[in-house]
Amino acid sequence: MAGISDLPFRMLNRSFGCECAFVEMINARCLGYKSVKTGQMLASGPEDRPLGVQLLGCEPDFIRRGMDILSAHVFDILDFNAACPERKVTRRGEGASLLKDPVKLQKLVALVVKLSKVPVTVKIRTGWDSQSINASEVAQRIQDAGACAVFVHGRTKQQGYGGAVDHCAIASVKKSVSIPVIASGDIFTPRRARAMIDDTGCDAVLVARGALGNPWIFREMEEYFEHGSLPPRPAVGDISDVMHEHLRLCVGFHGERTGVVSFRKFFIWYTWGHHSVRHLRQHATSARTVEQMQKVIEEFRSTARPDSKSKDGQQIGMRLADALARDAA
Ligand SMILES: Cc1cc2nc3c(=O)[nH]c(=O)nc-3n(C[C@H](O)[C@H](O)[C@H](O)COP(=O)(O)O)c2cc1C
Repeated sequence: MAGISDLPFRMLNRSFGCECAFVEMINARCLGYKSVKTGQMLASGPEDRPLGVQLLGCEPDFIRRGMDILSAHVFDILDFNAACPERKVTRRGEGASLLKDPVKLQKLVALVVKLSKVPVTVKIRTGWDSQSINASEVAQRIQDAGACAVFVHGRTKQQGYGGAVDHCAIASVKKSVSIPVIASGDIFTPRRARAMIDDTGCDAVLVARGALGNPWIFREMEEYFEHGSLPPRPAVGDISDVMHEHLRLCVGFHGERTGVVSFRKFFIWYTWGHHSVRHLRQHATSARTVEQMQKVIEEFRSTARPDSKSKDGQQIGMRLADALARDAA
């Protein structure tokens, strides 16, 4: 997830059972500029495996140059993005707008496959809008271009991150290709993951917003799939302990100032579904030092109570996605 899946986030989720993680999406154009930000996005370590890198682009020259720069980095999967709905991306002909031109997408994927030293996958959506659902055709072309798996977010570009996830469209993709299909969309609980697999026949599921402030989802999914049971939700003390660890990782990686700022949004997500946290969230979003943030976490530990009436955890993710979409517009 762009803006989220940095090394600390990946390592924390891996410690809870996340089996494969991706670096934040990287624009092929930006790779050429060798910015500090791109370097940080690509930072990894021996424990951070298997690791995927995701490339965004639509111009063969930039893609060639980008692939050349990427070849100096160690990763296991190269994913090509044909799913990003943000206007600043689609108006350049990148991301989800490639769904409108499956032939061009096929050529770009073939180029990436030719240049890549590691297996190539492609992330798509069901189509551009409800009038142009074409994920099956697109997936066949992606397969013909030599990709070894396809990730399908079961929404159209027009839907953004809201509205119903189209399990039928993902099931059609699964029937149309022989490469593995990894399904995405509203995987907020193990039960939803199970339903996605049962409805679509997909080979795996992708957890996105379901992991925001919720690394436990990976452990819960493992237990649910192996034993059919769900472990109890983490207590306030467990959440506080994990927040301290996540903060430590953020500060270790980004340095104190940026690490604390980067952790602020996670505080909001970790504390979702608890009573009387509004003032703590205000304190967290103004915290500037590790000590200040640690104090807020400890206050959460000593005062917070779960709110059983809170609705599904997806709400926070929805709000986040809306905010990001607004930012991008
Ligand atoms: C903040 C945010 C950033 C995202 N960044 C990316 C990205 O860089 N590349 C990508 O393929 N999908 C990205 N996605 C989409 C997710 O991978 C996923 O397909 C989508 O959120 C649907 O899954 P969910 O409903 O379980 O969250 C992002 C989603 C969110 C909310």
